[in-house]
Amino acid sequence: MKISVIGCGYVGLVTAACFSDFGHDVFCMDNQEEKIKKLNEGIIPIYEENLDQLLNKNLKEDKLIFSLVNGDIIEKSEAIFIAVGTPMDINGDTDLTILYDCIQDIKVHLKKGRKKTLIIKSTIPVGTCENIKSMLNDNQDYEIDVVSNPEFLREGSAIKDFMNPDRIVIGTDNQRSIKLLKTIYKKQIDLGHKVIFTNIKSAEIAKYASNSFLAMKVSFINEISDLCETTGADIDEVRNVIGSDKRIGDKFLEPGPGYGGSCFPKDLSSLVNIAKSYGNRIEIIEQVIESNDYRKVKLANRIISKLNLNEISNVTVLGVSFKAGTDDVRDSPAIPIIQQLIRKDINLVVHDPMALTNFSKLYPNINTALDLYDAVRGADILVILTEWSIYRKIDISKLAKLMKGNKIFDFRNIYSREKIIIHGFEYECLGR
Ligand SMILES: NC(=O)c1ccc[n+]([C@@H]2O[C@H](COP(=O)([O-])OP(=O)(O)OC[C@H]3O[C@@H](n4cnc5c(N)ncnc54)[C@H](O)[C@@H]3O)[C@@H](O)[C@H]2O)c1
Repeated sequence: MKISVIGCGYVGLVTAACFSDFGHDVFCMDNQEEKIKKLNEGIIPIYEENLDQLLNKNLKEDKLIFSLVNGDIIEKSEAIFIAVGTPMDINGDTDLTILYDCIQDIKVHLKKGRKKTLIIKSTIPVGTCENIKSMLNDNQDYEIDVVSNPEFLREGSAIKDFMNPDRIVIGTDNQRSIKLLKTIYKKQIDLGHKVIFTNIKSAEIAKYASNSFLAMKVSFINEISDLCETTGADIDEVRNVIGSDKRIGDKFLEPGPGYGGSCFPKDLSSLVNIAKSYGNRIEIIEQVIESNDYRKVKLANRIISKLNLNEISNVTVLGVSFKAGTDDVRDSPAIPIIQQLIRKDINLVVHDPMALTNFSKLYPNINTALDLYDAVRGADILVILTEWSIYRKIDISKLAKLMKGNKIFDFRNIYSREKIIIHGFEYECLGR
């Protein structure tokens, strides 16, 4: 089937790579000329495991074409997926400007009398598909159906998640669109992956509700972890007990510096505001947001309290991406922690195996090191903020030789205390 995907970002590129690999003819479009030029040269603008290989394989096999938004392509496509950004605005609502501009761009290219299905992968507040439908069908000559198909992939395992989803959610009451979506997702359906058909509004809300629930788990375990620390309990033992209950599950129960990334913070804020706009309150999520904001203040203060006030401390931060496996620093918990640290008199060096380019765009004046051992050389304090595997595999005796001081803050609990302290380190982790 001929499919258009609009938006060559994390979701759009993964969608395009996987659909083309499943045998569809995919046209992946963006409004950034430079991005399209690079994609056509095989240069992928983001880091995501296996994405590079999958895109380039299908590009070579002509299953995938990158272009600027193009009327002829839209005309040829049976289904048009929208995967543009829906960021948070200044009031904490979802800013739909990019999405609505994109819809206007497409509308120009839609031919009268032709049936088309527009499938919204972007995360959108309840009622948005209805608005888009009215924008597109304001003239009786059009017959455009709009489907909500929220995406649940996780950066860092996006290809795997897209190909093996826990569920595919299709929000529509239009039989023609149901048939079309079943054909598009045939490969995943044949492999036994679950498809849930809902009405459009349920699909829109389900995405926000899922992300909010997961974020709630993260904040919950962080607060339990603090209690463990204060009382002498061990968070690993406690979460083993909690996670063994099938009703709870053992995922998202690792203590850390708080949730972040391009989705959770904006989606939780949006859900709270959506509820308010309908006269409801989701107070539990309001509390989660507060708890997560405070988490970063609390952890930064923990480091600051150990700074030597008589001299300038050398602090090295390992990891600025919001989690391992991605170069994405959008709303990374590392950012507010670093912001608090640089207000103090310190020499800061930052390392990350993938995210330094994105980080340096935000903080061009902060020193970065490309090599891990260069980054730790001369450090008084080491702070681990992302759980990259290269940090897990660090040579601790080499670290002990290279560092000037001996303080390690392991805010991802990637080391065991016993293995660290024998090298003379003062070691602080979470909830243990
Ligand atoms: N990143 C994730 O992990 C993830 C997971 C699930 C859902 N989502 C949701 O998916 C959506 C996209 O997220 P993302 O992280 O891929 O965003 P992104 O910012 O990485 O990518 C968006 C892309 O859309 C392009 N674009 C913007 N306006 C356009 C237009 N008018 N025409 C064509 N292209 C245009 C941008 O240039 C950019 O390349 C968001 O709603 C997000 O909440 C993201």
